[in-house]
Amino acid sequence: MAQSYVMIGGEGPLSYAKNSSYQGGVVDVAKPIIEEAIKQKLDINELCSNGLMNNFWIADFGCSTGHNSFLAMQMITRAIGENFQSIRSVSQIPDFYVFFNDQVTNDFNTLFRSLPPERHYRAIGLPGDYHRCLLPKASLHFAYSSWALHWLSQVPKAVEDPNSPAWNKGRVHYSGARQEVVDAYSSQYAKDMGAFLEARAQELVSGGLMALVFPGAIPTSVENPNTSYSDVPSETALIGSCLMDMAKKGRVSQAKIDSFNFPIYFTFPEELKAVIERTGSYNIERIETLDNPGKHTLTNANARASFYRAAFEGLLIDHFGCEIIDELFDRYAHKLEASPAVLHPDNDKSVMIFVLLKRI
Ligand SMILES: C[S@@+](CC[C@H](N)C(=O)[O-])C[C@H]1O[C@@H](n2cnc3c(N)ncnc32)[C@H](O)[C@@H]1O
Repeated sequence: MAQSYVMIGGEGPLSYAKNSSYQGGVVDVAKPIIEEAIKQKLDINELCSNGLMNNFWIADFGCSTGHNSFLAMQMITRAIGENFQSIRSVSQIPDFYVFFNDQVTNDFNTLFRSLPPERHYRAIGLPGDYHRCLLPKASLHFAYSSWALHWLSQVPKAVEDPNSPAWNKGRVHYSGARQEVVDAYSSQYAKDMGAFLEARAQELVSGGLMALVFPGAIPTSVENPNTSYSDVPSETALIGSCLMDMAKKGRVSQAKIDSFNFPIYFTFPEELKAVIERTGSYNIERIETLDNPGKHTLTNANARASFYRAAFEGLLIDHFGCEIIDELFDRYAHKLEASPAVLHPDNDKSVMIFVLLKRI
């Protein structure tokens, strides 16, 4: 079972729905790339080799309450419909079924309440851990996931084990940590991403496409593409430093902090490529880094604090309890205000990784 990291549900001021325009910017940037990919790489004749296709199955893995997902699904179904129209005819455009996947504790009620009325697909909820098979074998024609695959299924065990050389005492993430800690994160990522890709390989039809976009990192040097650097983990370090300040004031115990780590990993293209190639099930049609389009939306300390709160609150409450959350994010917003350089978009070096795979 993956640990529970669902985003804040509903549509209130602290909800993920109201604090995810940062992630939503990715859909705009990835749109022309995905449209082009559908036009060039989705082989309608191959998919329809058994005759007519009545139903076209699409799934979004890790959709949360759907607000960004709806934009992506609209764009993807339209592009596929146009492809069918140009290669076959309007009458041969299949019915689209979109499976919205997230963890069982996700707020699916908000998702279904918010579905756009003008959509040209039928929506189906698909609760469950996406590291496992969730759909029938060879049934899926197009898989999509955005801003989800940097979440690990769990914090690597060694990082939380005081007897392990990878014990991450005094930190809450791998940014700036010892190599053993980074290695433990990296191998957990390889395991999780491998499981995700294996599960989708079972579900996708031959010739089916998968478009994935998630935050990643860029290598520090061309000579050594296996060393990564990203500014993104330093945000988690900043949250960690607020927790340390609270420990000094006796608001939270140091032992509680030592046993907490963020289950997030920012891979880089070479590492990802190796994981994909190990499955032996996909052709890599495209793999590239995109400039993070959302960085201009989080230049205000409170907006940035709400953004991280919407994503991390569940995880933090699970470990520390709900009493510390308001204070933690107030402290975090104050820290951001005191360091305007962190808020400046030019200093945000985070990147998005885009990958397009075709099931062999
Ligand atoms: C940051 S949200 C991204 C939501 C949406 N795709 C977007 O672009 O705004 C990440 C989502 O991935 C989901 N998630 C994380 N691990 C998962 C897993 N193992 N199985 C299914 N969903 C998962 C979380 O519950 C969360 O809703």
